[in-house]
Amino acid sequence: MIVTSNIDDLRELLKPHLGHIGFVPTMGALHQGHLSLIKHLGESSFKVMSIFVNPIQFGRNEDLSRYPRPIERDMELCRESGIDLLFTPSNESVYPRGYRTYVEVEDWGNLLCGRVRAGHFRGVATVVLKLFNIVKPSIAAFGWKDAQQGLILRKMVSDLNLDVEIVLCPIVRDSDGLALSSRNAYLTQSERSLAARIPECLQCAGDSYREGLRDFAQIREGMLQHFRKHPEIDVEYIEAVNMDDLEPAIELRVGVLLALAVRIGSTRLIDNWRVGAEPLPFDQ
Ligand code: PAJ
Repeated sequence: MIVTSNIDDLRELLKPHLGHIGFVPTMGALHQGHLSLIKHLGESSFKVMSIFVNPIQFGRNEDLSRYPRPIERDMELCRESGIDLLFTPSNESVYPRGYRTYVEVEDWGNLLCGRVRAGHFRGVATVVLKLFNIVKPSIAAFGWKDAQQGLILRKMVSDLNLDVEIVLCPIVRDSDGLALSSRNAYLTQSERSLAARIPECLQCAGDSYREGLRDFAQIREGMLQHFRKHPEIDVEYIEAVNMDDLEPAIELRVGVLLALAVRIGSTRLIDNWRVGAEPLPFDQ
């Protein structure tokens, strides 16, 4: 596996592989969720992963400084997982002094997670477009775990006519159903057990759907009741939106995303269910 932090070197190294580059952008602290994305790049692709904790997607009060950065372990995992090239650029090379250009997918970045994370999706879209321009992948894999991010990036690619295929990949969960996330590392033991209520709650919603309930207001109320039993879980939002336009959905049906964000202690966790499309947490 080649490892480089240098943009010019990377471009040189990737020249012979243009046309069949597969790319997985990450912020590191890798887990099986990240590694699962590699399988979706296709057998014959030249597999590139980036690890870059992108400062412009973190709000002022967010966890940029404490974000985990276990780089030696990450390199080992990349090596074991068949990554051909690992790109680890510095802040200064991605955002040199005087940097001024940003990309925004209008409105979509202000919904759901964007309501409390102002500027977050602008930071994500900007860095991903920059990484696409540097790596020039034919295919790039992202996780449904961050559904809003995936939909925004797909929209950016379509609106800007970028020549890259975006694949969105299923959520990888722990044995108790909690979606894997680098941020799970912040949870204390008791917070970690509490976090298992999140997939349970999505499962309840999915079970109601399968029993024939469609009205989202009712399903949401059931989910809130579930969380009320655990006042240590602070619900930030539970929303249903159409995946094609991110407009609120009144009824659950295929094509709707049921998404939520909660806080447990100081840790913010997100999860979602693509109605009728993704297996429910406990059906996997
Ligand atoms: P990060 O949180 O490191 O996630 C990198 C990729 O892994 C994203 O596409 C995310 O959706 C996916 N992922 C994370 N947990 C997953 C899980 N449990 N199952 C499946 N996929 C999972 O998302 C980012 O980084 C950044 O915003 C980035 C796109 C790299 C831009 O900075």
